Amino acid sequence: MGILSKKSANVFNPIDEEDTLAEKLEKEGKQILKLSAGDPPKYFKTPEYIIEAYIRALKERKTSYALGIGVKELREAVAERYKRMYNIDVNEDNVIITQGVSEGIDFVNAALLDPGNKGILFRPYYPLYMIYMRENGGIPLFENYYEHLSWNVDVEKLEKTIKKEARRRPKYLLVTNPNNPTGTVLDRKVLEELVKLANEYDILIISDEIYDEIVFNNAKFTSIAELAKGVPHIILNGASKSYDATGFRLGYMLIPEQDEKSMLIRDKLADYAEARLSANVPAQYAFADSLNNTKAHEKAMKEMVKEIEERVNLATKIVNESKFMHAVEPKGAFYLFPKVYLEKMKFKNDKDFVISLLKEEGIQITRGSGFGAEGHVRLVALAPKNILTQTINKIIKFCERHKKEA
Ligand SMILES: Cc1ncc(COP(=O)(O)O)c(C=O)c1O
Repeated sequence: MGILSKKSANVFNPIDEEDTLAEKLEKEGKQILKLSAGDPPKYFKTPEYIIEAYIRALKERKTSYALGIGVKELREAVAERYKRMYNIDVNEDNVIITQGVSEGIDFVNAALLDPGNKGILFRPYYPLYMIYMRENGGIPLFENYYEHLSWNVDVEKLEKTIKKEARRRPKYLLVTNPNNPTGTVLDRKVLEELVKLANEYDILIISDEIYDEIVFNNAKFTSIAELAKGVPHIILNGASKSYDATGFRLGYMLIPEQDEKSMLIRDKLADYAEARLSANVPAQYAFADSLNNTKAHEKAMKEMVKEIEERVNLATKIVNESKFMHAVEPKGAFYLFPKVYLEKMKFKNDKDFVISLLKEEGIQITRGSGFGAEGHVRLVALAPKNILTQTINKIIKFCERHKKEA
């Protein structure tokens, strides 16, 4: 019997799997250009009003444990945000604070899944969903986003899949909107159809909306909370992206409905939150102040999103000028998820492509197979335009150098 549990074999994150190799190369004196980490504060300084709020919380000695479900001020501020932005009638009792959306994903899977239970995931998916699903013995029921002019969902096909599972109904349907890694923002109509389906087949909806304020190219974001009135659902969101504060490690779960199922889930998630005592307390007060400081927030976000839009569009244009890759135009978040025409080159697969690119060019990106979509790669388009241009052009030259001879 080995020292490690069998289930621990599922715990590894493909997003940073090349970090060790990158570090080794850096130690050897190679300069590494990273288009791999979706970490906005590395490129956009966390706004001053948020930093000041954190310092204030420290000076006021907000340094003890807090309630596991989160400090009241923050839960109230989150509820206010949903009233203000999406006209949702919620209060602090509908909110549980987590240490990042990551912890929310962990809690939700732990609270809902027994070994053998299924959850519906759309592929490509954010890798953490699989880690926590598998850790709890869950089995993914995959639906693919189909890649055309935009990445989209085939709701009719999804219904057929659910019908096949009639006797073992999936526990949840997890939607990521806006999407990591594709940058898709789903249309309101598609979301309405998903809600209708979830209602009809009594499947809990989980909606990861961590990029809800990073939307551009004339797209319009709709929160599931606006549509799923009367249908049990959980919204996951937090400070990392829309408040440009990944290092705060703060997220929240919003459970807006009051039906019996929603209440059971809410209370169990609260038990999970209590079991780990509390999330970072000064950061919670700082986040509460930041959520309430709507004027400063709107100004900072407007500037950041405008710049992200320009960077993403520039990166997409350069990628699509190459004959080795093609990316669907993103409408949200800050990722590009191009298909790489590997058949035109001498690589075995996307992993081989990514590792060779790192070793030869010192450029770190992420393989699509880590998101369940072999043959794609993920590029993070947060770096300044000159760096993006230079780096993507280097990737294209690298492809050229490895092309198969006609
Ligand atoms: C879709 C999605 N969900 C969750 C997370 C994790 O967020 P957090 O920093 O709140 O743990 C990320 C981070 O990149 C993400 O892209």
